[in-house]
Amino acid sequence: MIRPLRSSDATFDEPGEIVAGLQQAEKMISPKYFYDERGSQLFDEITRLPEYYPTKTELGIVQANIAEITELVGPQASLIEFGSGSSHKTRTLLENLDQLAVYVPVDISEEHLLQSARQLRAEFAGLEILPVVADFTKPFGLPTPSIMPLRNIVYFPGSTIGNFTHDAAHDLLEVMHHEAGEHGALLIGVDLQKDPEVIELAYNDSAGVTAEFNVNILRHLNREFGADFDLDTFSHSAEYNEPEGRIEIRLISSRDQVIAIGGAEISIAEGEGILTEYSHKYTLGGFAQMAGRAGFRVDRVWTDADNLFSVQYCVRQ
Ligand code: AVJ
Repeated sequence: MIRPLRSSDATFDEPGEIVAGLQQAEKMISPKYFYDERGSQLFDEITRLPEYYPTKTELGIVQANIAEITELVGPQASLIEFGSGSSHKTRTLLENLDQLAVYVPVDISEEHLLQSARQLRAEFAGLEILPVVADFTKPFGLPTPSIMPLRNIVYFPGSTIGNFTHDAAHDLLEVMHHEAGEHGALLIGVDLQKDPEVIELAYNDSAGVTAEFNVNILRHLNREFGADFDLDTFSHSAEYNEPEGRIEIRLISSRDQVIAIGGAEISIAEGEGILTEYSHKYTLGGFAQMAGRAGFRVDRVWTDADNLFSVQYCVRQ
């Protein structure tokens, strides 16, 4: 039985927050609500799509450079993964890092977190795994491992940093700076700016999995918060905003309608969108600048041959 540490303010299932987002001038739902059980499964499916380059490119980068990564991390580290999901990308690290003291997967979705922790425990017998259920955008407590780690390595793969606006990403980097502690470092996956067509295809796959993933957020709100979204009246939209360097994902209403949620009524016009996700793409210089403002110095950058994606090792300044 794995007993997770539960962050006291892991109050992400607040209908008030969702209603407030839907009452803004531009309606929005936080992308963290994508990840109910079905949403997590659909995301796993996305990572295997031919058009979705980030996951496989990042995996390739980590695998190709694992010797150097292992060298930089050093022995007996604590690996703290923010938004671990099913921890797919972590396996290469867990297999190779030198005498890892503890693996701390942190995720908002308890069920997904515990299931993958169980599986990893079976695969990596002898490795201490201490899951934490938390909304990682707010500081949270770290569990106490039985072996004293020499340093904390915050691991944030998948370019999840891209979900956050530049201001919010900066704040999150500050949380990571804090969790990394004095001798700590950050190992982060950052998607790069490139041909907009390549980016748009990754979010408009021909099999329609991303569309299904997007609409599923409404199914989640219907079930969890008693909303009454009619799923058939919303369609998927994903467009690259080049000046802002980001994919913008929306659900577009096909008609004028009123949605009931959390005691509120939300009017949506035909053709109006609900923003469900930003996925920011960075230049190397742009990311280094933002990391710098949060107290990190980018020490090492690895990319693939086509410069699609980067994995970056940042140390505390
Ligand atoms: C998990 C935030 C990295 O932005 O590419 C994939 C989520 N959304 N397809 C991304 C996502 C639609 C993904 N991140």
